[in-house]
Amino acid sequence: MKKDIAFEMATSSIRFGHGVTREAGMDLVDMGVNRVMVITDPTLSALPPVATLLESLAGNGVAYELFDRVHVEPTDTSFQEAIAFAREGEFDGFVAIGGGSSIDTAKAANLYSTYPADLLTYVNAPIGKGEPVPGALKPLIAIPTTAGTGSETTGVAIFDLVEMKAKTGIAHRRLKPTLGLIDPDNTRTLPPAVAAATGLDVLCHAVESYTAIPFGERPLPQRPLLRPAYQGSNPISDLWAMESLRMVREYLPRAVADPDDEARGQMLLAASFAGIGFGNAGVHLPHGMSYPVAGMVRDFVPEGYGSDHPMVPHGIAVIVNAPAVFRFTATASPRRHLAAAKALGASTSSAAAESDAGAVLADTIIELMQRLNMPGGLAPLGYGSGDIPALVAGTLPQHRVTKLSPRPAGEEELSALFEDAMRYW
Ligand SMILES: [Fe+2]
Repeated sequence: MKKDIAFEMATSSIRFGHGVTREAGMDLVDMGVNRVMVITDPTLSALPPVATLLESLAGNGVAYELFDRVHVEPTDTSFQEAIAFAREGEFDGFVAIGGGSSIDTAKAANLYSTYPADLLTYVNAPIGKGEPVPGALKPLIAIPTTAGTGSETTGVAIFDLVEMKAKTGIAHRRLKPTLGLIDPDNTRTLPPAVAAATGLDVLCHAVESYTAIPFGERPLPQRPLLRPAYQGSNPISDLWAMESLRMVREYLPRAVADPDDEARGQMLLAASFAGIGFGNAGVHLPHGMSYPVAGMVRDFVPEGYGSDHPMVPHGIAVIVNAPAVFRFTATASPRRHLAAAKALGASTSSAAAESDAGAVLADTIIELMQRLNMPGGLAPLGYGSGDIPALVAGTLPQHRVTKLSPRPAGEEELSALFEDAMRYW
């Protein structure tokens, strides 16, 4: 196998500041956009961030139609609904406001209304055909209201393929929003439990991208267009990952404790930092394993999500795997695992043996999970040992991320990881 010789940094333009949501209308006018589809979820639809955005559009003469039926943790069906709305409306631009679910839904609506195709055409192989996005998309402004996915910076859209009970996605640089408006005023409405789960997603984005295989270990693509967005760890992504970990350490507990603390805005920024990093490096096993953990949910109803149906929020589905995974992967790059633990505040002397790196990082994460009242593993989510074969089967097809693990993990290794993730305390 010829190995890759390069990595490429791509990210959306982002603007950070109190009140930037009010600038969206002017931005669209300056982009030459006259008619937009506004995409959000039913809960946020009635809250101040959406009202502020709609005022800005109306005040600047931008016509809009509101689509507020985004499914939190979107599915192929909810994507299709948004795509149909987009095709019918013949919009010349999109504005997504909300969490990753709304922003990802907007990316799909933009892609499939601009280049109509069967849903699986652009979905990651081997689940879909993995074809590259054929050309430029329409302008998309993304306004995150949760400090988690970093979706405003990335070319990735994740959804649940219901018939396969698996999460999968579409990943291409051309899916990136044109502009991310990061407005600390939009995070006050976030319930503490959501702030905690989404903040731990940020942590995982950063640690996974920092510990992913180096970009030069991936196969060389035939042409630059085919170089994936998730390229493995690289010197530029490393900077963003490490800084976002320091921010998580400083701001996450405060952001969960007090919605009016400026830490809320700093976590929004940390999510974008981590997004810039992992959007070009990728994530690995904790995310790969999270997809069946979320997809196979039976009766876990999370606190704070206002959900009337069982669901495992993305941040929780990811973090429960993280300690087990990092204990396993640390032998591949102990120094990187130790550096991540230190950035998160682990008090290890530099004399600490690198052979402890996995345990040190896992313990640091477990301590934070306890502090934030997270479930202590897969068992509290309702899973038992009997579920492991199905959880493994749901993880194996997630090549886009599992292949970035610094230590290869097949069926046997994944089974052991899920077993280890059952109960941490
Ligand atoms: Fe994530």
